Amino acid sequence: MLINGSPNKNGFSMTLADAIFDENTVHHAYEMSIESCTDCGFCDKRPACIFDDDMDAIISALHHDDTLILASPIYFGALSDKLLAILNRLQMLFKKKFTHKQEIPDIKRLYIVATCGAGNAVMFDGAHLTLTILKQLFNAETARLFTLKGTDAMHPETLTKDKAHLIDHYRSIVRQ
Ligand SMILES: Cc1cc2nc3c(=O)[nH]c(=O)nc-3n(C[C@H](O)[C@H](O)[C@H](O)COP(=O)(O)O)c2cc1C
Repeated sequence: MLINGSPNKNGFSMTLADAIFDENTVHHAYEMSIESCTDCGFCDKRPACIFDDDMDAIISALHHDDTLILASPIYFGALSDKLLAILNRLQMLFKKKFTHKQEIPDIKRLYIVATCGAGNAVMFDGAHLTLTILKQLFNAETARLFTLKGTDAMHPETLTKDKAHLIDHYRSIVRQ
């Protein structure tokens, strides 16, 4: 499954994610109603979340897939706030696994596709750390970060025009 963390469905992040993965099951973070984690402590006491919202659909989908792809623009050096809201709610799974010693979804492959406007790859440091944290949570076999910097000087169409080259380049990394 793919979670699109960009408000732009045809922007750089989704164009790149589509080119690499061709994934059909897409959840658009900006169309979902997701409360922010408030560190209320509910999941310390039981393996559940106090909020009843679209996060249920994400958790349920995670149970039915072993691959999780996140696509996101970099906003202020991090994944987008809507995507981070979803990831913060996965704190419940940390508690379920490590406090309550219960099974969590079995995600084997984790990918983050991130794009940023600046030409400086340091912008992806936050995404890299997030990937490391997710890998630890799910004990995933594979965790990869695909990045495209310098989008301020590009148009998403330039990605699709050169799609064959793009797919070759990134898919060769997927296979590694
Ligand atoms: C609110 C906001 C914050 C941004 N912050 C950064 C940033 O910190 N560093 C950067 O390189 N680009 C930043 N950008 C540019 C986006 O990361 C870039 O345009 C991205 O490729 C957009 O992806 P999308 O087309 O998938 O939405 C920002 C853009 C917005 C709208």
